[in-house]
Amino acid sequence: MSTATLLLKGKEYELPVMEGSEGETAIDITSLRAKTGAVTFDPGYGNTGSCASAITFIDGEKGILRYRGYPIEELAKSATFVEVCYLLIHGNMPSIPELDAFNEKLTRHSLIHEDMKKFFEGFPPSAHPMAILSAMIASLSAYYPENDNELNIIRLLSKAKTIAAFSYKKSIGQPFIYPRNDLSYTQNFMHMMFAVPAEGYKVTAAIDRALNLLLILHADHEQNCSTSTVRMVGSSGANLFASISAGICALWGPLHGGANQQVIEMLQQIRESGQSAKTFVERAKQKDSGFKLMGFGHRVYKNFDPRATILKRAADDVLSALGKRDPLLQTATELEQIALSDPYFIERKLYPNVDFYSGILYRAMGIPTNMFTVMFALGRLPGWIAQWKEMVDDDKTRINRPRQVYVGSKVRELSEVDEALALTIA
Ligand code: CMC
Repeated sequence: MSTATLLLKGKEYELPVMEGSEGETAIDITSLRAKTGAVTFDPGYGNTGSCASAITFIDGEKGILRYRGYPIEELAKSATFVEVCYLLIHGNMPSIPELDAFNEKLTRHSLIHEDMKKFFEGFPPSAHPMAILSAMIASLSAYYPENDNELNIIRLLSKAKTIAAFSYKKSIGQPFIYPRNDLSYTQNFMHMMFAVPAEGYKVTAAIDRALNLLLILHADHEQNCSTSTVRMVGSSGANLFASISAGICALWGPLHGGANQQVIEMLQQIRESGQSAKTFVERAKQKDSGFKLMGFGHRVYKNFDPRATILKRAADDVLSALGKRDPLLQTATELEQIALSDPYFIERKLYPNVDFYSGILYRAMGIPTNMFTVMFALGRLPGWIAQWKEMVDDDKTRINRPRQVYVGSKVRELSEVDEALALTIA
């Protein structure tokens, strides 16, 4: 085993070095504090490996993303979202009987408890669907309190799409549409979103394929903010539903999954302003403007985000298959071209990320803007579940509890305040 030598205050310490299956090197500092009394300082965790995981591999320099060893490009081309769910959670692509059994279970568990429908009535019509989704997912633990993780995983995967579609129906004042057992996972979601009691809704092959593609591209992304949240909350022993609900809240932020809604709002703002895309690129470069190019930049990808490459290509195909034109696609392409040839973005290695083009596809499919982050959450669900399960099954898991470097006041005496107060009153 190789080691790293740390020289601290004139004394040398040997620390073990771990190597991942793709050659990633990590200095194991689990004994650091016991040996030296020191902790590491890494705000934002940019250099911290919080766990060993066998689920997803990313090489941010080369733009590589693989789920369980399979390149994202291949999965995007030929897998379904349900197959990817199985792959992430169970570690291998399903055989035909395994897939049939998995689909059957997902179909059987897609209804939510009838009493849960009353919750939707309590939300104001203007409620953001992410607020409803996170609350409803946490509430599942009240209805399904059994500690049967395998069953709860199926329940969560299956019911989340029903909850998501119901939250949309609630927001537009239409009656809920129940799932149909003859439809696939993705078809069922679109059916519950867009069918009305008077008439059904036919999910075209182009829409079904686009939805599968989008969900697959979002399915996992190793230790990002929401996944780390799921692991953090789960490490205390919190149940699956509570842990995933916390992840949904983390995803909602505009720097994470909430960016997909913000991208479309930014593109609309550019078009409506009548100003050039270049003006907005210039504004994004000024730190005090409070404006960023949403859908640009990534903590890990420093060359290109392979998901964005796939989505950019798909945007043209999906729009033409659906017979739609979207002027925002033109604005997005223009913005990308200007930013990619600008030294500010080149020097900082800022490229379009998954959120830059996904909204164009969601719009073409008829998904409203405030549902975009919910779509991200539905896609990320199998990744969160797989990561939660990996953590729970690992007997080395400890409660997540980072340290800090305290920079506040040294010890003070309350009596000094009392004296000062007495002086003021006198
Ligand atoms: N527009 C303008 N400048 C940017 C942008 C941007 N979108 N992103 C980063 N920068 C600048 C940043 O100001 C900093 O400049 P300087 O070195 O002069 O201080 C430099 O680039 C490095 O950025 P950072 O903020 O230190 O990088 P980070 O790794 O902490 O943050 C990020 C990554 C994704 C939060 C950030 O790039 C960002 O805010 N992007 C816009 C929001 C977005 O699209 N989020 C979706 C991320 S992908 C989907 C997901 O996984 O959630």
